Amino acid sequence: MSSLKETLFKKIEEHRPRTTKLLKDHSDVKLGEVTIGQAIGGARGVRCLVTDISYLDPMEGIRFRGKTIPETFEALPKIPGSDYPSVESFWYFLLTGDVPNKKQTDEVVADFKARRQVPQYVIDVLRAMPRDTHPMTLFSAAILAMQRESVFVRRYNEGMSRMDQWDPMYEDATNLLAKLPSIGAYIYRMKYKADTHVGTNMDLDWGGDFAHQMGIAKPYDDVSRMYFILHSDHESGNVSAHTTHLVASALSDAYYSLSAGINGLAGPLHGLANQEVLRWTMNFLQTLGKDDYTEEDVKQALWDTLNSGQVVPGYGHAVLRKTDPRYTAQREFCLKHLPDFPLFKLISTIYKVTPPILQEQGKAKNPWPNVDAQSGVIQWYYGVTEWDFYTVMFGIGRAIGVLANITWDRALGYPIERPKSLTTAMLEDAAKK
Ligand SMILES: CC(C)(COP(=O)(O)OP(=O)(O)OC[C@H]1O[C@@H](n2cnc3c(N)ncnc32)[C@H](O)[C@@H]1OP(=O)(O)O)[C@@H](O)C(=O)NCCC(=O)NCCS
Repeated sequence: MSSLKETLFKKIEEHRPRTTKLLKDHSDVKLGEVTIGQAIGGARGVRCLVTDISYLDPMEGIRFRGKTIPETFEALPKIPGSDYPSVESFWYFLLTGDVPNKKQTDEVVADFKARRQVPQYVIDVLRAMPRDTHPMTLFSAAILAMQRESVFVRRYNEGMSRMDQWDPMYEDATNLLAKLPSIGAYIYRMKYKADTHVGTNMDLDWGGDFAHQMGIAKPYDDVSRMYFILHSDHESGNVSAHTTHLVASALSDAYYSLSAGINGLAGPLHGLANQEVLRWTMNFLQTLGKDDYTEEDVKQALWDTLNSGQVVPGYGHAVLRKTDPRYTAQREFCLKHLPDFPLFKLISTIYKVTPPILQEQGKAKNPWPNVDAQSGVIQWYYGVTEWDFYTVMFGIGRAIGVLANITWDRALGYPIERPKSLTTAMLEDAAKK
């Protein structure tokens, strides 16, 4: 058994009595009440999911296993010559809550390499689909096509104990995760680089090999590591995380579950917002019609967007009530690597003028930027101008968090999810009382 799997098993055994005790002795303790507004309004703020992998504080932003983003980057071992940790060390950290040492990290890097090869039939599936298919559809289809590989399904059919379900879920999760950068890069080059491909480089880590297969030089390997870690997890209620968890709760395997989560990420109010930001910003530049725009010009163009009934993409959040620290982390990268890039300057001006405008408009509960407001600029700078592809990279990152979560879901035996629905007449009755 690998050191990661051994540590994970130890953590699972330590954790199980906590969940059992809560269920046995405290099942009736109330965590809140549900209002009509919440029932109609997308269950905002209803406390009914449990995860120990990340927690989103509205004012502070995300913490992975208790650590803020800067603390996470600081704590994890770095790839030599890189400013960022390897994604493999982050996977170890998310799964176990422990910061791995170099030896433990190297072991995960080697394990991922051993599982990296994408089956030829997945490539065949991608190539058989019309070339104008959206990259997210291709990505989701590639994941789903591999479902036949599921160790979980095989073990389930053999009659495994419920206590053992985490193990094949972990195997499926790792097998799947290891292949995602190659699948993503293949889709990118098939669609946008005249179907020319760069093979995997076994000397490189997961993030580094993605940059290599995309065909983009340093420091894009660091962009990839940073991007994948930042997009990994945002607690459990967001659409991609919740969907993956929900589908897995029916004991669907990791392939079915992740593919479903990726489909949720493809919505413009969720992951697709990062492509929306770039599309909108480019239109915005056209509307401004000049390079020497003033802050007043930007303000006017923003009002035009709002007055035409559109949202400002990259701003607002269902939970956050301050600037997303994932935005800040990417902004810091831009300040170091591309401070004079005109698109970054425009994004910075938008950052300066948008929050007061959204406040003045008085609709958005959170006028501050989210992760998507900044990520496309970095991609654009390094030559990834095909914004349709941006959400695939978000999806590769998001897979890390949701796959860690469904491994723990099986470890703790979380049951099939089944909230209760009411009719509108029942709500009206409740309102009268
Ligand atoms: C993220 C988002 C979907 C959250 O939705 P939410 O939780 O319903 O947000 P709120 O409760 O603040 O919405 C209240 C109102 O403000 C509006 N609003 C929210 N964000 C807005 C924005 N960026 N620009 C303009 N209006 C916005 C909403 O459309 C809503 O209007 P309505 O009452 O007419 O329906 C929303 O802020 C949004 O659409 N943002 C732009 C897309 C985006 O960046 N998505 C990525 C999220 S990580």
